[in-house]
Amino acid sequence: MSHSTLLTSLENGIFTITINRPDKLNALNKDVFADLDNVIDEIQNNPSIKSAIITGAGNKAFVAGADITEFNGLDKAGAMALATKGQDIFFKIERSAKPIIAAVNGFALGGGCELAMACHFRVASDNAKFGQPEVNLGLIPGYGGTQRLTQLIGKGRSIELLISGSMIDAATALQYGLVNYVVSPDELLPKAKAILTLVNTKAPLAIAACIQAANAVYDSTSNGYATEINAFGNCFATEDMKEGTSAFLEKRKALFTGK
Ligand code: COA
Repeated sequence: MSHSTLLTSLENGIFTITINRPDKLNALNKDVFADLDNVIDEIQNNPSIKSAIITGAGNKAFVAGADITEFNGLDKAGAMALATKGQDIFFKIERSAKPIIAAVNGFALGGGCELAMACHFRVASDNAKFGQPEVNLGLIPGYGGTQRLTQLIGKGRSIELLISGSMIDAATALQYGLVNYVVSPDELLPKAKAILTLVNTKAPLAIAACIQAANAVYDSTSNGYATEINAFGNCFATEDMKEGTSAFLEKRKALFTGK
């Protein structure tokens, strides 16, 4: 499927999604949201895709935020509808059964930082910059940023970033635990792909269960420990669990089928 605002490629089970509006620093407008919504469905539905990377086109920005030009003339109800739409798409990323990671290649501001935080984890290039500058516009984040930033870096650091609108560099993001690795721009996609190449050798249903159980920590409507017990039990009903344990006992490499 082609998407007007995204470039996509599939290699060795890794689907790379590049947000492609470099002249607007890949700002998230309605078209990008519609394309992202479709592409996340494509990730779930295409059995050739095992995991995915989201990155930005050009060497300057991952995503520099929601497209501010689209805020013009929005009233309260329109703004709430926009935030709901953005949150729904980012929940879809966060709840994806297949891992989706962000390769942050420059500015990740506002909705861009929120997009990166909705991914399962983040790898950054050393020129990356993170921030929630909405207060500069008389706004707050609307796509889950107040929640996920606080989950990821703790309340004190999160509130400081939210109320100051300040950016942090990649080294600080690493120190805060916002990103897992910082590498040079040339190494960014190779690093992300190397991580997913390893992940792609693991049992897909177990991967999905790990994501579901880890998400349950932050879901006030579910008990994470009960989710874990249930998911652990479900694994015992899979062929992959029989294959994994047999392969270990037979001292051979497991070959998982996702069944
Ligand atoms: N929405 C819409 N357009 C945006 C954008 C956004 N969030 N961020 C950047 N752009 C556009 C600029 O308007 C400019 O377009 P133009 O060439 O047609 O004038 C183009 O992208 C390049 O950006 P520019 O500001 O010229 O680059 P810079 O290197 O001087 O500054 C930033 C980079 C990221 C610091 C600056 O673009 C910025 O502050 N962007 C807004 C960040 C923000 O507030 N995001 C949260 C939105 S809720």
